Amino acid sequence: MDDLRDKYIQLISDAGDEAALEALRVQAVGKKGEISLKMRELGKMTAEERQVMGPKLNALKDEINSALAARKASLADAALEERLKGEWLDVTLPARPRRAGMIHPISQVREEISAIFAEMGFAVAEGPQIDNDWYNFDALNIPGHHPARAEMDTFYMHRDEGDDRPPHVLRTHTSPVQIRSMEKQGAPIRIIAPGRVYRADYDQTHTPMFHQIEGLAIDRDISMANLKWCLEEFAAAFFEVDEVEVRFRASHFPFTEPSAEIDFRCSWVGGQLRLGEGDDWLEAGGCGMVHPKVLQNSGVDPEEWQGFAFGLGIDRLAMLKYGIPDLRAFFDSDLRWLRHYGFSALEQPTLHGGLSR
Ligand code: DAH
Repeated sequence: MDDLRDKYIQLISDAGDEAALEALRVQAVGKKGEISLKMRELGKMTAEERQVMGPKLNALKDEINSALAARKASLADAALEERLKGEWLDVTLPARPRRAGMIHPISQVREEISAIFAEMGFAVAEGPQIDNDWYNFDALNIPGHHPARAEMDTFYMHRDEGDDRPPHVLRTHTSPVQIRSMEKQGAPIRIIAPGRVYRADYDQTHTPMFHQIEGLAIDRDISMANLKWCLEEFAAAFFEVDEVEVRFRASHFPFTEPSAEIDFRCSWVGGQLRLGEGDDWLEAGGCGMVHPKVLQNSGVDPEEWQGFAFGLGIDRLAMLKYGIPDLRAFFDSDLRWLRHYGFSALEQPTLHGGLSR
């Protein structure tokens, strides 16, 4: 029995793979294995012999089985070890520049603008791109007959015959996020809301999908002066110059009173845009003091709260800052274009680290 034991223990420890181990298992403790056959012989033994041999054979069988299991585990460990050596990866290596993705100028500019307003204490808010006409129009004091609805070239979602729920639209501006944010959070509130907006329009300066950023600040004594300061700070930081003069041009939006168009002082020298100097004005967006009805529609008491809102076009700001000529190319998904105008994925825009490098 000792010979049998030594033989199998040796064979098992020499087995080079799982298949060899399985063959050994069959040979030793399988149905017709050497040890199993010996166990069958127990029947022919005398009672005394059986009392000695029975437990010994059982112990031998157990020992062989555990040797098999142990060897199997150590083979698996070795295989894993081998595989890990082959698949070893140095995660501290720098990315290969040829394969690195690029940040789209729209994303870059959205992050830049968010970083600037975050510094002033604005949080980033979001809303759905498919919204109903209450949020996109009515709540913003744009009733059904209002010309602004027609002007916006709205995309309406399909409605089944007899469906009398409020129609859904692709939002035509980011202003509905004002309503949703005030509904959720109440006042005081300070948010910006960057995002996609949609209008049925297509030419060199219009695409059916484009990007806006909405700003909203509501508190007890917020004024037009606070608004102007915020926009001046924003323009100087965004265009990375010391100072930019902001001009308010009287305008009309249903959701603000008074309303103004935002212009930044600039000059065009040899086709190059310079901010903060010159006699030209750059149109950047709209703004005003939030209309009392808009506050009311959002569950904010206009007797107690007031504040400003503004809307800027992200795509245009990106084109101007980075000298990108054709808006439509932004959305062509042409990799050559992206490699030319894109930004490194490893540089996050921050005010202290520099917005664009
Ligand atoms: N929602 C306007 C548009 O898309 C832009 C705008 C104007 C937003 C004035 C505002 C605002 O928040 O106060 O044409």
